[in-house]
Amino acid sequence: STVDWEIASYDTAGYEHFLLKEIHEQPAAVERTLSGRLDERFATAHLGGLNLDARELREIRRVKILGCGSAYYAGEMGAQLIEELARIPAHSEPASEFRYRNPVIEADTLYVAVSQSGETYDTLAAVQEIKRKGGRVLGVVNTVGSAIARECDGGIYLHAGPEISVASTKAFTSTVIAFALLALHFGRINDLSPADGRRIVAGLKALPGQIREVLGQEAEIAKLAAEYAGSAGMMFIGRVRGYPVAREGAQKLKEISYVHAEAYPASELKHGPLALISPELPTVALVPDDELLDKNLTTLGEIKARSGRVLAIGHRAPEAKLADHAILVPKSEPELDPLLLNIPLQLLAYYAAVALERDVDKPRNLAKSVTVE
Ligand code: G6P
Repeated sequence: STVDWEIASYDTAGYEHFLLKEIHEQPAAVERTLSGRLDERFATAHLGGLNLDARELREIRRVKILGCGSAYYAGEMGAQLIEELARIPAHSEPASEFRYRNPVIEADTLYVAVSQSGETYDTLAAVQEIKRKGGRVLGVVNTVGSAIARECDGGIYLHAGPEISVASTKAFTSTVIAFALLALHFGRINDLSPADGRRIVAGLKALPGQIREVLGQEAEIAKLAAEYAGSAGMMFIGRVRGYPVAREGAQKLKEISYVHAEAYPASELKHGPLALISPELPTVALVPDDELLDKNLTTLGEIKARSGRVLAIGHRAPEAKLADHAILVPKSEPELDPLLLNIPLQLLAYYAAVALERDVDKPRNLAKSVTVE
């Protein structure tokens, strides 16, 4: 069975859909996820519920993150944050795949289960399998007291507030914030410098205001969404930090607008999907102003040379010959940029779904919480 939310008992607070309300709640949700957890003096994060002291954390050699759907994609962003800030190998994997392949459970690996609802059956079963084999599992969960939260050895609650719309927006963002806190805490116990710690603390504090700035572009993004919604499909590309953004952006578009969307690492384009590029299949390209900018601009040139249309998401507009449109977001710290790059993709998916008159909050065939195998 699936959990059927009683939508009527909640209130859209004047927004047309819960999804739009939840997109707009993100600055406040991020503030709640951060609340009381930043330590300016030691340039680190406090996470009271981990139930792991510094000595135990120092013994961890690997992090394995498990979740389904958007929770899995948020986990991909989380894995990158942990690798970058704590220099510990980290990977995210769909919880269902993990549990069906008789996973090797290691004593020096930290397992992290991600779930908004805390009730997704595949994620719960993965947690139970790890625990049965003696592994240690943390939960990154929104719903207090949920099945997954109860099963874990410790964890981080998001405090994002109830999420009603089937597609995840604010819980996704808050999950990535929780991973940034975990990575910061982990990093500062290992080799992350105080200066880098301060840089991340300041970056996190600036995020709610920066998300508000992106939301301020809603009207322009809505226009672009209506223009692109008629496409046969859309390609989403990004490199390294941009790739999980591309995956979540494609997921959001397909689940609520039913427009076919594929995500690829930009570097893989020439190994197959370039054959799909045509004026009918536009590309959303993540082009943050980081050390990979030149490589990403070269990719845009390759798409334009095949008469592909390009919508660039980044920090400054590429030359007109490289992109047809651009949506610009404020610059954060490079490690935190993915969070902000994702916000316009939520609005793009939402307004594409509205333009196509979809059932935005309850897309066909999908449930908010999948409590079956
Ligand atoms: C379902 C929903 C997705 C969600 C996923 C995981 O498939 O449609 O939006 O990302 O479950 O849900 P969870 O509650 O575990 O984060």
